[in-house]
Amino acid sequence: MELKRSQKIYPYLFNNEWKESDSGETVQIKSPDDGQVVGEVPAMSQEEVDRAVQSTSVVQENWEASEGHERSELLHRWADELEKMADEIGQMIHLEVGKTPSSAKGEVKRTAQLIRHTAEEGLRTHGSFIQGDAFPGASKSTKAMVQKVPHGVVLAISPFNYPVNLAASKIAPALITGNTVVFKPATQGAISGLLMVEALVKAGLPKGVLNVVTGRGSIIGDYVVTHPKVDMITFTGGTSTGQHIAKKASMIPVVLELGGKDPAIVLEDADLDKAAKEIVGGALSYSGQRCTAIKRVMVMDKVADELVAKIKANVAELTVGTSDQNANITPMIDQKSADFVVSLIEDAKKKGATVVSEGIQEENLLGATVLDHVTEDMDVAWKEQFGPVLPIMRVENELEAIGLEKRNEYGLQASIFTKRIENAFAIADKLNVGTVQVNGKTSRGPDHFPFLGVKNSGQGVQGIGRSIDSMLRDKVLVLNL
Ligand code: NAP
Ligand code: G3H
Repeated sequence: MELKRSQKIYPYLFNNEWKESDSGETVQIKSPDDGQVVGEVPAMSQEEVDRAVQSTSVVQENWEASEGHERSELLHRWADELEKMADEIGQMIHLEVGKTPSSAKGEVKRTAQLIRHTAEEGLRTHGSFIQGDAFPGASKSTKAMVQKVPHGVVLAISPFNYPVNLAASKIAPALITGNTVVFKPATQGAISGLLMVEALVKAGLPKGVLNVVTGRGSIIGDYVVTHPKVDMITFTGGTSTGQHIAKKASMIPVVLELGGKDPAIVLEDADLDKAAKEIVGGALSYSGQRCTAIKRVMVMDKVADELVAKIKANVAELTVGTSDQNANITPMIDQKSADFVVSLIEDAKKKGATVVSEGIQEENLLGATVLDHVTEDMDVAWKEQFGPVLPIMRVENELEAIGLEKRNEYGLQASIFTKRIENAFAIADKLNVGTVQVNGKTSRGPDHFPFLGVKNSGQGVQGIGRSIDSMLRDKVLVLNL
């Protein structure tokens, strides 16, 4: 059965049937570019959510009992179908979340690659065998077979900014390991998520192995997160939402990829041309709406003027407009997010920051604003902007930069720019973050690298191999011979 495309209402998937909610209630999704309605998704009731989770739970044992190579083949077919639908899904990502068409289609292709790699890597999971005699009082006649088994039902919750990639990066490792999935897409991005699921259905998804729940997280979120049949949660999104989910979820495993305030630390000996280019690309692609965007620069005083001039020159080359126009800086996801960025800029200006580049402010379209001489009393020094403003903090030495980073609540990634690798290593050792990039912008990927945040940036690890690990638990069989 095909997902209906008429009247712009996109139904949810329940046991391989596309359904509208019994109440007929929907949530409208509007384009960030022009506010036009892109489509609507069902606002599911608690009863409908319950049915979705229950039936996913019922089929889990059968799915776990299926052969690993069959699950892997399903994922390969899913990747094939996604590629066939790349234009359509890319177009929907573009409309729903305001990515340029090429970047939106690129997300679909990256996702197909991620699924294929997961399909391969998942075949290599294995348990272990332990002899008892290593522990006093036990002997070789006591042996443990440590198997890797799935948790059961995995709840996958994705954010708006990668509505396909950050959904599939949870769903594929869950499925390959024998878990069934309840997928809750971000509302803004939900149609793209549903189209991605349509590709999975075309690939031969068995009934109920993945069900979708749509509707506002603020309304159905707590219900699904605390549902007794949910055995594990994997979430990407804002820190406050993630913390809320972790508290509600209580005794089940929860993997969280949350916000960040990634610094670019620029030392005196850095290649400043390269640093400026990487910083501007890292901070402002997709208008800064990436968890891994560079969200503040910490530059040594001696080279600050030169670096700021180069950053300014790079920013001047960026075009500002709609994603339809293929602009570099495009409208933010909604007005509330744009208002927040403007409030950070105003606060910094009031407290004495220098405006290096001033971005336009037209509703939710904000040009890039670069602020220099940002100090610790300014909100933009600490709060995650998730938008096109780049604060620059001048520091006297490396220790000051390390101190600034350590006092921040986040710990996703950091970049260090220097020609002396030993300096980079020394600083990297002291930073409390998931990943340190040397002479490159902060970013996730390649997608098989571990990806994690510490402190308020997350819990657990993603990246293909680690995501697969997170979907499995030990089950020990002890032989007493
Ligand atoms: P968000 O507002 O936290 O939403 C993320 C997801 O959570 C959405 O699906 C949302 O549904 C759902 N949700 C909301 N309330 C919920 C609840 N009570 N229970 C269960 N689910 C709930 O985040 P966002 O605006 O989509 O994304 C922006 C944030 O995500 C930024 O802070 C960014 O740094 C972070 N992010 C982090 C990473 C990473 O890998 N570290 C990646 C991408 C984004 P609705 O859409 O229906 O509200
Ligand atoms: O927004 C968070 C994503 O995990 C960032 O991914 O670095 O590939 O843009 P990216």
